[in-house]
Amino acid sequence: MLLSFVPVFAAMAQRQVERWRKADRTVPTDAAAAMTRTTFEIIVEAMLGGSANLDADRYSRALTDNFGTIPWHIIYVMFSIPEWMPYPHRRRAMRSRDFLHRDIRRIVAARHFRSSKPDLLNLMRAAHDPETGRTMSDDEIVANLLTFITAGHETTAVALTWALWLLAKDQVTQQRVFDEVKSVAADQPIDAASVEGLAFCRQVIQEAMRLFPPAPGIARISKAAVKIGNMQFSASTRIHIPVFALHRNAGLWDNPDAFDPDRFAPELVKARRRFAFLPFGGGPRVCIGGGFAMLEAAAILATIIRAFRLDPVAGHKPKPVARVTLRPAGGMPLLITER
Ligand code: HEM
Repeated sequence: MLLSFVPVFAAMAQRQVERWRKADRTVPTDAAAAMTRTTFEIIVEAMLGGSANLDADRYSRALTDNFGTIPWHIIYVMFSIPEWMPYPHRRRAMRSRDFLHRDIRRIVAARHFRSSKPDLLNLMRAAHDPETGRTMSDDEIVANLLTFITAGHETTAVALTWALWLLAKDQVTQQRVFDEVKSVAADQPIDAASVEGLAFCRQVIQEAMRLFPPAPGIARISKAAVKIGNMQFSASTRIHIPVFALHRNAGLWDNPDAFDPDRFAPELVKARRRFAFLPFGGGPRVCIGGGFAMLEAAAILATIIRAFRLDPVAGHKPKPVARVTLRPAGGMPLLITER
């Protein structure tokens, strides 16, 4: 099932390559914006089978406005502040949320028919509760599609953005990626057969997510009293799992700040504790898109590095900021040269 999406990943990555071919390459290009656009096009295609005529830029702005409210929701819950209390840009965020709901609803309503494509909209329309036979209402379908679109593109874009910057700074590793892609796929589009062979590309993505986890923290509230290690927590305790700090903990990782994709060689992964590396979380609420995201990111990385050599912009040091996802402040300028 997941492998059936690989042609979509490759086609959208190639679209980005064409956009960069036409761009003015004498000036730095913003890799963060490019990756957000590419992963957005992919998630829309995978969810809605390209039937959607979406304004990508408007969606992107609306999703960013929506994301921006999440820290406020957390603060409101922490301090039991009533929901009606205004916070900065609340009205804009509400307008954006309404726009997203309205627009996805328009698409769902326009798709009365069931096409033969195995996209998520069709799968949700066909799904029914095995016991009661109940199917999902349009409202539930809209809410689920929005969750997938939100959770399923910005995170992957951020992982790729940091991976591209890390490779730009490390030409030896970039060459290894290039060599792998050439040997696995030559000049053909990445497909279901070749994507499996991109083992080093996947290691690069994993190492980028270790250094810059797209979801830098995970929060939970304990349902009942619990003992974790030698710490006792009462019920209803807010627990923050600092994924960024965990991934750079010197007790778990040698030379933790260094970029070294070989840490994710299969034998080293096997020897490591499962909960030392949590880019997709863990336990019952683990990311359900992890497999999709890894295939997608590897296919995009491979397609881009095969077409372009990346270099850092002299003197530019990107600053990670946590806005739900860990983005570089002000984007990610990189220099690209056609190979
Ligand atoms: C590199 C890319 C991605 C990263 C780093 C990532 C990370 C995460 C993390 C850390 C969680 C758990 C949050 C928690 O425990 O509170 C999560 C949940 C989730 N992710 Fe992802 N994700 C990625 C890609 C995707 C994609 C591509 C999709 C959809 C196709 C997706 C859909 C979801 C959904 C629906 C949940 C909620 C699951 C639940 O609560 O049961 N994610 N993701």
